[in-house]
Amino acid sequence: PLGNAANGEKVFRKCASCHVVGAGAKNKVGPQLNGIFGRTAGTIADFRYSDGLVREGKNGLVWDYERLDAYLDNPKALVSDTRMNFRGLKEEQDRHDVLAYLRQFSDS
Ligand code: HEM
Repeated sequence: PLGNAANGEKVFRKCASCHVVGAGAKNKVGPQLNGIFGRTAGTIADFRYSDGLVREGKNGLVWDYERLDAYLDNPKALVSDTRMNFRGLKEEQDRHDVLAYLRQFSDS
């Protein structure tokens, strides 16, 4: 793997004001992130997404490694009207690490 999951757990502190992952995770400001790898964007049934993220999901945006990396680098560069108001993780290694951490809660 490209990233270090233990370090990624620390990087995830930057996400934790809005997201929860792991057993029993609930939606917060952002959707819970269990099973995010391989999921179509904007498809957690009981979360109210932006029209933009729902549109991109309908247009075929599936969260694979590269798409997640791009979204975490600069959310609005991938989905111009997303309402994830997060400037992004500018360090490539931080993105690899947080993705290694999140992958532990996904089947794919
Ligand atoms: C959406 C990850 C930081 C709020 C998402 C999605 C991912 C993600 C993968 C898409 C979910 C889906 O399609 O079901 C992350 C990670 C973060 C982070 C890994 C830290 C590196 C934040 C922060 C906030 C936030 C700090 C709040 C200020 C949201 C919201 C959405 C979202 C509101 C829904 C976006 C929309 O409907 O357009 N996040 N996020 N996220 N996130 Fe984050």
